[in-house]
Amino acid sequence: MIYEFKYLTCVLQTLIGKVKVYIMKAIVYRKYGSPDVLELIEVEKPVPKDNEVLIEVYASSVNPYDWRSMRADPFIIRFGGGMFKPKDIRLGADVAGRVVEVGSKVKQFKIGDDVYGICTGAFAEYVCVAENRIALKPDNMTFEEAAAVPMAAITALQSLRNKGKVTPEQKVLVNGASGGVGTYAVQIAKYLGAIVTGVCSTSKLDLVRSLGADHVIDYKKEDFTKNGQRYDLIVDAAAYHSLADYKRVLTPQGRYIFIGGAFTIVFKIMLSKKENFEVLSAKVNQKDFIFISELIKEGKVKSVIDKVYPLSQTAEAVRYLESGQARGKVVIAVK
Ligand SMILES: NC(=O)c1ccc[n+]([C@@H]2O[C@H](COP(=O)([O-])OP(=O)(O)OC[C@H]3O[C@@H](n4cnc5c(N)ncnc54)[C@H](OP(=O)(O)O)[C@@H]3O)[C@@H](O)[C@H]2O)c1
Repeated sequence: MIYEFKYLTCVLQTLIGKVKVYIMKAIVYRKYGSPDVLELIEVEKPVPKDNEVLIEVYASSVNPYDWRSMRADPFIIRFGGGMFKPKDIRLGADVAGRVVEVGSKVKQFKIGDDVYGICTGAFAEYVCVAENRIALKPDNMTFEEAAAVPMAAITALQSLRNKGKVTPEQKVLVNGASGGVGTYAVQIAKYLGAIVTGVCSTSKLDLVRSLGADHVIDYKKEDFTKNGQRYDLIVDAAAYHSLADYKRVLTPQGRYIFIGGAFTIVFKIMLSKKENFEVLSAKVNQKDFIFISELIKEGKVKSVIDKVYPLSQTAEAVRYLESGQARGKVVIAVK
């Protein structure tokens, strides 16, 4: 209601020539629920603050973060995001596009730069973002490929390098290897010199192998917690085993990093106080974007894109990611 009022006010203001207000298309959600709550509407184009740039969005990509926000799942999201309805109706975190305006204090970017990063409200034609949340887009990537990178690749990097402290020749198991995070995790773990085992479902084994995994395990046919192998590091984007199961397959100094899966595991890890069991909460970090950009430029990391949807079909894109069928990333082409 407030949004419609603001929109009508700015249209009226423009009509009477009082102020010049620009309009753009954006996906919004005014209540929590399934992808049916997503609407494509016209809203006021944002104006960058001093430390922000305005990006013309060329592409975005969908993350579980988006559908979790949309559904308020887990419930705890409502405590910060709005108890009965979302406080912020914008959606979409990953962005790739062109800088079209810069705030007065922006030092690193200029109009015309092609960038990618993490923001709020990327499922839109324009978005404002602080300059320390973006990096220059590698030239050897399309906007769609770059839009797949931010949240998933940062998560993969921070779980392997920062928390996991991977060293060459270590045995690393990536659980959930065929998803957004997993496809980058396999490639980054290989880059860091690890011997990588990727766990995924039957139809995605070839994909995970093609990303460089030394071994693949089809979790539909084999339980990696029961096959007698030991790992120095488990990065888990699909945590559905017990802590005892994970402990059994870690080497004595081995580490376990929870990325996503059953939230009960998070509480169990916190209660267990096991030093080698950690929960990752990925943080936006420009240095990490730059690090990943270098890997992309060197051809060490690429994006795996399953499907590309237009902005008007964002609901279908979110539905597809939620179905668990996606191989790698689901992208929204905006421009
Ligand atoms: N902690 C953080 O900071 C952080 C940051 C980003 C994401 N996350 C979380 O990390 C998780 C993964 O994110 P994502 O972007 O990779 O999601 P995604 O693209 O939806 O991928 C998840 C993958 O898990 C696989 N999977 C499902 N059940 C499995 C099982 N039992 N064993 C092995 N793999 C299984 C699915 O592929 P198959 O068909 O192969 O099963 C699916 O592709 C999500 O829960 C997300 O919320 C956390």
